[in-house]
Amino acid sequence: MTSKELRNLFLKFFEDKGHKIVKASPLVSTDSSVLFTTAGMQQFKPYYSGVLDPFKDIHPFLLTPLNSLNVCSIQKCLRTSDIDEVGDESHLTFFEMLGNFSFGGYFKKEAISYAWEFVKDYLQIDLSRIEITVFNGEKEIPKDEESYKIWLELGIPQEKIIFKGREDNFWGPTGKEGPCGPTSEIYVDGVEIWNLVFNEYFQYEDKKLEKLKTKGIDTGAGLERMLKAVQKEKIETIFETDLFKPLIEEIQKQTNLSYYSSPKPYRIIADHLKGIVFLIAEGIEPSNIDRGYVLRRLIRRAQRYANYLSLKDNWYESLVLKVIEMYKEFYPEIDQAPKIISVLNEELSKFQKLLKEGLKILKKEIEKLKTQEINDQVLANLVFKMYESFGFPIELTLEELKISFKTIDEELVKNKVQEFFKIHQEISKKGATKKFGGHGIDISKVEAGDEEEIIKTKLHSATHLLHQALIDVLGNEVKQMGSDINFERARFDFSYSGKITNEEIKKIEEIVNSKIKQALPVFFKEMSKEEALKINAKAFFKEKYPEIVKVYFMGQDENSAYSKEFCGGPHVKNTKEIGNFRIIKVESIGEGIKRIRAKIF
Ligand code: SER
Repeated sequence: MTSKELRNLFLKFFEDKGHKIVKASPLVSTDSSVLFTTAGMQQFKPYYSGVLDPFKDIHPFLLTPLNSLNVCSIQKCLRTSDIDEVGDESHLTFFEMLGNFSFGGYFKKEAISYAWEFVKDYLQIDLSRIEITVFNGEKEIPKDEESYKIWLELGIPQEKIIFKGREDNFWGPTGKEGPCGPTSEIYVDGVEIWNLVFNEYFQYEDKKLEKLKTKGIDTGAGLERMLKAVQKEKIETIFETDLFKPLIEEIQKQTNLSYYSSPKPYRIIADHLKGIVFLIAEGIEPSNIDRGYVLRRLIRRAQRYANYLSLKDNWYESLVLKVIEMYKEFYPEIDQAPKIISVLNEELSKFQKLLKEGLKILKKEIEKLKTQEINDQVLANLVFKMYESFGFPIELTLEELKISFKTIDEELVKNKVQEFFKIHQEISKKGATKKFGGHGIDISKVEAGDEEEIIKTKLHSATHLLHQALIDVLGNEVKQMGSDINFERARFDFSYSGKITNEEIKKIEEIVNSKIKQALPVFFKEMSKEEALKINAKAFFKEKYPEIVKVYFMGQDENSAYSKEFCGGPHVKNTKEIGNFRIIKVESIGEGIKRIRAKIF
């Protein structure tokens, strides 16, 4: 079976069972509490918590209501939590997740029966290869006897069903809060291929669990793992499936080291390159923070392994083209080879220079250490020094140290490095107090990384003004769809179907700057959600808010305030602290969704 056949089989199966097929959401999640989309359910979060109604409310990407309680999708995902594991037989950073979801349409019985029917009859995986796990209960959450019974009724022998605790069989939430619940998982040959989540709870930021009004289903099956499971006779790892083989072959053309003698670099390069292509295509640029940092790390890591295989200088060009060729049918947005290659050219020429010089120094330092007695403190010191003095990536120094000192306890060294960072940040905090003294923000409360935090706070306040100014100029169609702030810029996504003219952009900018000049006090008030909605405070429609909310006002008093918005803060104390506001880019990022990037000077 090819990956394309598996994609079609899955979607058709669930369509026949009354599911609406929904396209994948971007990797750059609009859920601002997470960096990336890591699961298929993320775009459906508001439906589980009841914030959006599938029949009445507009879906953020489809721009029509979902019009169905049951949906299915194939979602591109990026997870960096396992980045160090990539290179083994099953871990990836970029992967796709097949999933079926229900927001009150069905629950455990159907979810389990559908998954089992698909695995048994459609993938024709033999029962001898299967194992099932079920939630064993923990504290206030009861043992999942119901799922256990359903599996037994479907003919799974008792000894193949294993009860496990919260660590293994409870999923979610993604980000700070959201729907979550016990799971039941299907394993094939010892590898988990399908996670069935029974969303029964909403977990708040303080970890408090509350029962959801409507129970939901969220399932996720890794496309790569499932494809491998179905081809057991022919292949041994996911890297021999058609989702990787063309890339492995492309790498093989450029090196004398064969895949079979050293598979790890091949796998890492192939995996990372997919993530790189998808991220750049979505507009991420390499940088030292947030998403840009993840992209930079993927690029640098891939380059390290390309060096290991002695690939040619522009090794990535043919690989970028291959990734696009493999995926563009399903994700047309990645068809941007010139842009992707040019971002890589620029980033890698910088990195190669840094790497060459840094590695030389590091090798010398390592030689010196070999003549001494080493401990975690000494190694951590070197890691920190390489970073501080040369900008040499921490993980690369660690990897070099692992090669030279096989017995090092990496965790211990990492912890020590973190201590160094804390001390360093304390020192720069004192510096920042001097620099930013007299500023409206209570400096003593700002944690490490202050200067960046202060800029982020200013941008955050500017975003509130921008939000209102957009409504003033463009009208009520403007609804916030997402926002992301780092110390370099604010990004604000919102719904608006028309074209935005240069005059309008100028006007929006002028309004924001005039509100900054008016030196409006910024303050908040806690009130009931109902009251906040009554006074027309703007809410981010995809969030589920608690009963008591914080509303930020910018203006002389609550009634005359120019901006009123549900928000946890922090903000400046007065708009005049923001400085000059400038819109640097306006783009369309999907049908009816616009994105504004803005800076302050
Ligand atoms: N959300 C679950 C997971 O990511 C199932 O889709 O595993």
